[in-house]
Amino acid sequence: MRHFTVLLLLVLAVVLPSINANPYSYSSSRQTDPGDGPGGVDNDGPGGVDDDDPGADGNVPDLGDGNGIPDVSNATNPLCVPWYGIRDAILGGIFHGRCGDEARASVRLAFHDAGTFSDALKAQGLPNGAADGSMIWDPTEVLRTENDGLQPIVSILSPLPAQFGVSPGDLLHLAGVLGVLACPGGPRINAFIGRPFPLNVAPMGLLPSPEDPVPKLIARFADMGFTVRDLMALVGAHSTGKQRFVDPALANSSFDSTVDIWDVRFYAETAAPTTPPDVLKLDSDVNFSHNASTFHEFHRFINNQEDWDEDYRSAHLKMMLLGQNISTLTNCTELMPASINLTNLTINGTVDPTLLEAAIQKYRAPWLS
Ligand code: HEM
Repeated sequence: MRHFTVLLLLVLAVVLPSINANPYSYSSSRQTDPGDGPGGVDNDGPGGVDDDDPGADGNVPDLGDGNGIPDVSNATNPLCVPWYGIRDAILGGIFHGRCGDEARASVRLAFHDAGTFSDALKAQGLPNGAADGSMIWDPTEVLRTENDGLQPIVSILSPLPAQFGVSPGDLLHLAGVLGVLACPGGPRINAFIGRPFPLNVAPMGLLPSPEDPVPKLIARFADMGFTVRDLMALVGAHSTGKQRFVDPALANSSFDSTVDIWDVRFYAETAAPTTPPDVLKLDSDVNFSHNASTFHEFHRFINNQEDWDEDYRSAHLKMMLLGQNISTLTNCTELMPASINLTNLTINGTVDPTLLEAAIQKYRAPWLS
């Protein structure tokens, strides 16, 4: 496992070119999944891979033999085969199988890449943002103030598209869904490949600030195509978030008291009048928990992991497809490992650290280092 990354890159150098000499040749040849809903967005992966989270109590897919060589023995779609190795490079080589700084930053990066999409700009035919990977393609985007804190993950991910011969958007948004999954409790979101290269640098001034009033935030997310329910589900990603730039004096404070797990404690603690030690609440999140337009959807997720999982999964899927044409993409959800379900790890309402670590050791073994 120590030589995981090196070995993996060597394997990929041999395997990738022989599998797909032109990595973009797949973009117009999407395999149809009989289980697809309208537009191809569904809960099933291709070849009948069931997207229902099997959890930590069994029915977990084969996770490989842990020797750093991508296990493609269960691959069903040839177009997805090269992506097993890229998955392992991200989940193992970068995240080390855990919900650490890189995994969390990749989730935020997915939002900052896609969150510059605007229906209004699109309608006017103006240069638009999209879930296109421009954040790791254009060297100037990450220098914008609103992207402070994303520089380390951008430096790590930027070379990978060229190294693997894939598009920046596919690479970045695979990292985003793997980042969610690396956090225990994080749902298994569908993975799509085939995004073309970015058309332009993302327009400025479209990413939200914690100081924006709620109506402005609702309007901005509506311009991306999100409902209030989507928005309330998406900000739950702060469940595993830390801040460094909102209050630098409190750098590394988290947004809830369980930063290592993808749970709904964020909603309860944000709405509560008190603040746990080492937690910083963003003004925008607190406002969401009180404002009449968002109160109901925000409070719906308190103590309701199941509803949040479902709503987050569909909102994130929408986010990572913004500005993309799904009919030209390939559904590679088959390469997504199972989610770690927190239910069986919870004793008296709290996730037990020993059970949690045992689940990570068991279900993330091939990627731990
Ligand atoms: C109302 C909209 C949002 C606002 C105002 C907002 C604002 C912020 C701010 C200020 C930070 C801390 C940055 C720092 O100081 O280091 C942060 C972190 C984070 N945000 Fe958001 N955010 C929003 C929506 C989202 C969405 C939609 C997602 C993902 C789906 C997301 C994911 C994250 C994550 C994972 C972090 C933690 C990153 C880390 O720990 O390194 N945010 N956000």
